[in-house]
Amino acid sequence: MNICCIGAGYVGGPTMAMIARKCPDIRVTVVDINQERIDAWNSAELPVYEPGLDDVVLESRGRNLFFSTNVDDAIRAADVIFVSVNTPTKTYGVGAGRAADLRYLELCARRIAEVATGDKIVVEKSTLPVKTAESLKRVLHANSNGHHFEILSNPEFLAEGTAVADLENPDRVLIGGDDTPQGREAIAKLVSVYARWVPAERILTTNLWSSELTKLVSNALLAQRISSINSISALCEVTGADVSEVARAAGRDARIGPRFLNASVGFGGSCFQKDILNLVYLCEHYGLREVADYWESVVKINDWQKDRFVSRIIRTLFNTVAGKRIALLGFAFKKDTNDTRESAAIRVASALMDEKADIVIYDPKVTAVEVYRDLDYARGDQLAREAVQVVDDPYTALEGAHALAVLTEWDVFRELDYQRVFDKMKKPAFAFDGRNILDHQNLRKIGFEVHVIGKSPAL
Ligand code: UDX
Ligand code: UDX
Repeated sequence: MNICCIGAGYVGGPTMAMIARKCPDIRVTVVDINQERIDAWNSAELPVYEPGLDDVVLESRGRNLFFSTNVDDAIRAADVIFVSVNTPTKTYGVGAGRAADLRYLELCARRIAEVATGDKIVVEKSTLPVKTAESLKRVLHANSNGHHFEILSNPEFLAEGTAVADLENPDRVLIGGDDTPQGREAIAKLVSVYARWVPAERILTTNLWSSELTKLVSNALLAQRISSINSISALCEVTGADVSEVARAAGRDARIGPRFLNASVGFGGSCFQKDILNLVYLCEHYGLREVADYWESVVKINDWQKDRFVSRIIRTLFNTVAGKRIALLGFAFKKDTNDTRESAAIRVASALMDEKADIVIYDPKVTAVEVYRDLDYARGDQLAREAVQVVDDPYTALEGAHALAVLTEWDVFRELDYQRVFDKMKKPAFAFDGRNILDHQNLRKIGFEVHVIGKSPAL
């Protein structure tokens, strides 16, 4: 078997590397239009940071795993083509701010139809609105040159930062396809790939629409848990309850469960917001206004949570942060990744820029170039380079700071020498823990005034 994947991003790269590791007899080629990205995949410095990923790639690269920009050759050689290109939220025209922009996907379909010299199985790996497969089918069939294209949906459930472990040992693999002889045959072929390492009972097969919708629903339900607990965190701050105690006690109910109930400065990442907005748009399209409003509120609470965090910083620093040095610890949307898409840190830093704070940022894996690009893009201006300093050492960031704010739960932030930090900072020294990872008792003993999401200042 010969597999090709179009799109060498956070999803396509790691997923194909795992397939290549588990199936040494299958030739796997990952292609991308971005030459720089492909060069990075072929170098010692991979474009995606994921614990354990280097080993998986090195094991197979050059053996049965290849990275290339030659899209056409890879399409022609493949029996199975995964499409894992980005599907961002539309920023223009009808559905702007909500609908998924499917132009990259459509381009891929047209390309596949144009260059294919035989039958292909085309697998949607990107997260897509329900019924996208229908459009894919029509584009492919209308340009088929007599070849047969069978469409499958196989959404990815890996989380960044734990991608290798999630791929190695997934809770489930979901494969959707048509209930026709050719559809069933294609499903069986893809099942046989995953069955090399995933137990049969964890491989679920459904129709195309269920598979497409399940991906959106899974992310919406996960994000909803965070927005639910974050809404309660605000109530805790004013009532004297402690949100981590509430989450621990409520999560003890097996029906609720303990995971994904950490109150935070807000969820980020490429999927949650995009997929919920996508769901909202879909509901609107079908005239389900109430359902759309219900899910949209999950995103609204998330933005409110980020703004609330900033307000608390400003209020605490005597209602002005102008000219005050504020050290932001972390810029990635979560630990163990260099991905910053939709990171809460972007909105927090931007709001502090508006208040004319003197911002300094340290993140173990995010580069200064990325920080500036994200801020300029989010703000639509070019002010970040002037207003924000990005440093490569946490102690440098904290030198002379009035306040520190933890925005990403990187382990290194737990392990800093906080006595040394305190000695370097302006007094009173404030610590805002947006991820609830620091040892607050110890910090208070040293002399910090500590503020934690979901705890009233008195706690
Ligand atoms: C993306 C989507 O965000 C996600 O919804 C989907 O499930 C998988 O694809 P990710 O892999 O994290 O996730 O995105 P990204 O890192 O941006 O990778 C997409 C890649 O596709 C980029 O490297 C881009 O250059 C490439 N691409 C895009 C193509 O090769 N051809 C195109 O026409 C468009
Ligand atoms: C998510 C889904 O988990 C994954 O299954 C899907 O395929 C893609 O989207 P990812 O975006 O990589 O994965 O990260 P995830 O671990 O889900 O975290 C998302 C955001 O929620 C992060 O910003 C994280 O810090 C935040 N979060 C998570 C919380 O604020 N509290 C929690 O309890 C859990």
